[in-house]
Amino acid sequence: MLSVGDPNTRGDPLTTAYASGKVILFGEHAVVYGRPAIAVPVTQVRACAEIQAAPSGQGLVIRALDLDLTHRLGAAIATDHPAYPLEATVRNTLNTLAIQAIPDLTLTVSSTVPMARGLGSGAALAAAIARALAQHFGKRLAPSEVSDLVYQTEIIHHGTPSGIDNTVIAYEQPVYFVRGQPIEVLDVGRRFWLAIGDTGIRGPTRIAVGDVRRSWQQDPTRYEALFDRIGAIASRARQALVEGDVGTLGPLMNENQELLEAIGVSSPELEALIHSALQAGAWGAKLCGAGRGGNMVALVDARRTKAVAAALRRAGAKGVIVSHVDRH
Ligand code: MEV
Repeated sequence: MLSVGDPNTRGDPLTTAYASGKVILFGEHAVVYGRPAIAVPVTQVRACAEIQAAPSGQGLVIRALDLDLTHRLGAAIATDHPAYPLEATVRNTLNTLAIQAIPDLTLTVSSTVPMARGLGSGAALAAAIARALAQHFGKRLAPSEVSDLVYQTEIIHHGTPSGIDNTVIAYEQPVYFVRGQPIEVLDVGRRFWLAIGDTGIRGPTRIAVGDVRRSWQQDPTRYEALFDRIGAIASRARQALVEGDVGTLGPLMNENQELLEAIGVSSPELEALIHSALQAGAWGAKLCGAGRGGNMVALVDARRTKAVAAALRRAGAKGVIVSHVDRH
């Protein structure tokens, strides 16, 4: 048993686990309605979960550094409290790991994935927690198990997630995703460079997805047709990614953006960044994730990444990430 003076109760992490962010290259929103979509990990940003030993009787305490909160598992909280999805992730993971009693542990979480900006912040945090707890108890969780756990947390965050965010984050590979179908990991034909620009505006997924649902309910024929066109773009993009055909991918991103504008999830700030990336020579650009705010993503020649990043900053991007998609 550990006492307060024991080195392991002084905060040295026993276990640390990480999970990357993600970006949706094609098919967001339509993917909720069963159309295909493509997402890739963004390793430049990540969530971190650290486990420290705790004195006997402490229970499991979650410290979320970015949210400035400390929560003891089991303490009463409302379902809209920021600690609620964290508690749910921990409980679901302990269940999956068949850990019956709540252990004495401190779980410290932090993240460089910007929150509510389409880069999968909630899913990355949940994946890091699941991995850290599994590692701590000497157990292995398969990517499919991490994905299932994160999906449960995504339901709390977003209500009706398609499952693409938990999948790409848990598998850490480019994925071609169709709701309810087996995961297809994409072996891209060459390295692709991306420039991701942040409007600095929160774009909560739950709100954008809810608005699209209402519009779809009001005019199902129009929205089904728009989703069909987005799905067709994603399936053409799958082929182009596998073949390493950037000449096709750029225009497909632009077409996808036009359709996202038509379904009502773009914004002037996103369009200003998209325009600046295209002016600076990007092959294609679109919003990524739920939209309204959050980030856009541009497909860029390796030699143009600096110029596009600079153009995005000049156009008002609050943050720019240059990332790449690799063969695995
Ligand atoms: C959010 O990252 C992507 C959406 O398509 C929602 C979902 O797939 O659950 C907008």
